[in-house]
Amino acid sequence: MHDCREDFPMVNDLSGWDFVFAFAKYGDEWRIQRRLFEQSFNVKASRKFEPQQCLASGDLLKWMLSSPDDFLDHFRRMTGEFIMDFTYGIDVQPLNDPYVTLAHDALQTLIIAGVPGRYLVDSFPILKHIPTWFPGAGFKRQAQKWRKLARGMMELPFAETQRQMGLGIARSSFASDSLNLLKDMDAGHAFFQERHVQTTAGTIYLGGTDTTVSALGTFILAMLANPEAQKKAQLDIDAITGGEALPTFQDRDSLPYISAIVKEVLRWQPVAPFAIPHRLTTEDEYGGYRLPAGSIVLGNAWALLHDESVYPDPHAFKPERFMLNGQLNAAVPDPEAAFGFGRRMCPGRHMANSSLWIAFAYILATFEIQKAVDSEGKVIEPTYEYQSGLGK
Ligand code: HEM
Repeated sequence: MHDCREDFPMVNDLSGWDFVFAFAKYGDEWRIQRRLFEQSFNVKASRKFEPQQCLASGDLLKWMLSSPDDFLDHFRRMTGEFIMDFTYGIDVQPLNDPYVTLAHDALQTLIIAGVPGRYLVDSFPILKHIPTWFPGAGFKRQAQKWRKLARGMMELPFAETQRQMGLGIARSSFASDSLNLLKDMDAGHAFFQERHVQTTAGTIYLGGTDTTVSALGTFILAMLANPEAQKKAQLDIDAITGGEALPTFQDRDSLPYISAIVKEVLRWQPVAPFAIPHRLTTEDEYGGYRLPAGSIVLGNAWALLHDESVYPDPHAFKPERFMLNGQLNAAVPDPEAAFGFGRRMCPGRHMANSSLWIAFAYILATFEIQKAVDSEGKVIEPTYEYQSGLGK
């Protein structure tokens, strides 16, 4: 299948998100940024960020201890801190960090602008050319305001990394490492330019925050839905650490059940049940149906991950389905569809898997996750409801 992305004039052309390579059409610009990204975040290279992942997960435990009920806020804060750290080498401030706040506000506008069918201009792209003052052009005035946030989110943290590099105090991060690489490369041989580092870095925050937070939230629900899984994971961790220390990435092979929990969290409640829509660049055929070029294709990750013939009893949270004789069972397919499809498959999946693994392991080593009780001591059953984000 030859696929790219659909047009989204309200998001890309008007609201300033055309720098995000996750929304880019297939072509040289997408290829350059994807390659630049994969250079830092392939399975081997992404291991370099493990110290930052441990640091952020350690902070998470402190915040959870001080106010356990606010766990979702802590997940957001941890993810923001971690992504700013490994993308730009920026230490975020404990409260109301300007970079995290700007990125958060910008993402809220994307969630509104990205709803398919909300803006007429997405169906009739010609409308993007009408003057801003024209009656009915309120969407253009709105987009002009939002554009400042989207651009700010891409430009300001990047400028901070450049400032630190100028002073010689920048630490290793995606942005500083890539800029240093560019400096060392013979101008004729570099496959990317400075602006690609800026736009790719801007895409990382967008691709990595809400997705990771959602999976962390699902983990809490999963531990409530299956307390035996929690107990088993805790016993496994204690057997390795003696209950005296936090697990480390070196323990990953000895703790396959935690890896099974990561897989099952991603399978049970996929973060993006239809991934991001793909658009066919050439005609294709599927199951006897002709799909003309330009068709929008939604990959149904939910159906694949709840296929009974592959994952029996698919609606239950059962990490054991990925295990055999105390080890991961290679015969059970990984829930890859949780990360999308084909050449647009999530390039941040190795980071996502390891961030989730260490956060789950830290939480399980130190906390007991239980259902809340009301003032009369009666257990409150969770509703297991989700809120939609982008693409509602
Ligand atoms: C649990 C965490 C995550 C999940 C479930 C997830 C899922 C996805 C999905 C479903 C897609 C769309 C794939 C498609 O179009 O078929 C995607 C794309 C993408 N993700 Fe992730 N993601 C996660 C974490 C991350 C992280 C941590 C990063 C960055 C470090 C990241 C960066 C990206 C980027 C850049 C794209 C666009 C790829 C392209 O269009 O070529 N993601 N992700």
